[in-house]
Amino acid sequence: MEMIIKKACISLKQGDITREAADAIVNAANSSLMGGGGVDGAIHRAGGPQILEECKQIRKQKGCLPTGEAVITMAGNMKAHFVIHTVGPVWHGGNSGEADLLASAYRESLKLAVENNLKSISFPSISTGVYGYPVGEAAEIALRAVVDFLQGQDTTLEEVVFVLYDTRTYSAYEKALSKLCASK
Ligand code: APR
Repeated sequence: MEMIIKKACISLKQGDITREAADAIVNAANSSLMGGGGVDGAIHRAGGPQILEECKQIRKQKGCLPTGEAVITMAGNMKAHFVIHTVGPVWHGGNSGEADLLASAYRESLKLAVENNLKSISFPSISTGVYGYPVGEAAEIALRAVVDFLQGQDTTLEEVVFVLYDTRTYSAYEKALSKLCASK
């Protein structure tokens, strides 16, 4: 299933984001940028120590990465060229600005991709693992944020792929994408 916005194609796939050959893959990191579990752990394992070394340099220059913001590093041993690290919100019930912070994580990642003249970017389902964001709501926020960004300006982006690790998450994004397509 896919959706075309200007010259960009938004699509879904089930799989392991570390195997993506996109210009950039997005990491659902934490503010420390020192790695962790989930997709963060998978990306650091697959990319190798170079990624952590670059993250340490970023920490020295900028300190911790605030929720909703993003930074970029090389991708080490992976097929992708870059990793865009962003921090999604921890779910606290939905009344602590989580929706805006989640949308910001996607938006800031896209901004960095465009600033680096990238054509393709792959996202995991940010915040819906350890951070506990309900996947149905997160999927709608994620897709809406990407569509709004692409509609808002001409960009270099031609491919935005959501790489979803399990069938439950894939189905949630499929439902959200079909709802978005129907509302267009
Ligand atoms: N490829 C794609 N998606 C993956 C992969 C992978 N290799 N591994 C896990 N995922 C999925 C999870 O199944 C979930 O759907 O990524 C989504 C996000 O889950 P987490 O990785 O737990 O990320 P998040 O919920 O944003 O929590 C971030 O977890 O790993 C720590 O350091 C990280 O503290 C940070 C927190």
